[in-house]
Amino acid sequence: MADLHINFAGIKSPNPFWLASGPPTNSGYQIMKAFDQGWGGAVWKTLGVPVVNVSSRYGAINHRGSRVVGFNNIELITDRRLCDNLREMEEVKKYFPDHAVIASLMVQTKKEWQQIVLDVQNAGADGIELNFGCPHGMCERGMGSAVGQEPEVLETITRWVMEVAKIPVIVKLTPNISDITEPAQAARRAGANAISLINTIQSLVGVDIDKFVTYPVVENHSSNGGY
Ligand SMILES: Cc1cc2nc3c(=O)[nH]c(=O)nc-3n(C[C@H](O)[C@H](O)[C@H](O)COP(=O)(O)O)c2cc1C
Repeated sequence: MADLHINFAGIKSPNPFWLASGPPTNSGYQIMKAFDQGWGGAVWKTLGVPVVNVSSRYGAINHRGSRVVGFNNIELITDRRLCDNLREMEEVKKYFPDHAVIASLMVQTKKEWQQIVLDVQNAGADGIELNFGCPHGMCERGMGSAVGQEPEVLETITRWVMEVAKIPVIVKLTPNISDITEPAQAARRAGANAISLINTIQSLVGVDIDKFVTYPVVENHSSNGGY
């Protein structure tokens, strides 16, 4: 059989097929199942301060009587505790030492960024991805695409990470910007090892014009979560 091994920016993997951060990479169990099925790597569902997610993770776009012609992403970052994710990350690396496990991260302050980098390194992650792309829920709090749309802020945060990172760092960009090369160059100036393209294209599946709210209508279950 052909040898599909890769070395991507210093991260080794048995093949170039990796799962992107999202619902399929939300737990160690899912990632180990994916590796069993042949995937070479996985970017863990973004870690940070857990939020309460909406129960459906997708909004469905219906068109002219056809149900579900497309999906939009209404999920936020992980809704699981950091300590649980770190324990499972360690477990995945124990069973799959040669597969690529990338920790996707999103926090706010310099102290939080540097601490979470140390945490995932200790858990055995092979690389780190900085989530500067999520288009809703987190950007209103100054994270995700709010950073990907501000090259100077992106550069500052990436430098904080590079100060403590001992494993390769990938910067994940948002497509919701007029010129994506600007944040990409900022990532390069800060010393990032790679960039990844792209996070979610911003979209609305529809608007309830009587209530002036967007579809899907989702209850906000707590002050720190919901869509
Ligand atoms: C339901 C859902 C949840 C997602 N969660 C994350 C996330 O936690 N972190 C992240 O960096 N990207 C997240 N993404 C974005 C995906 O990783 C990917 O960048 C995006 O869907 C574009 O790739 P695609 O065109 O193959 O879907 C999510 C996407 C979806 C649909």
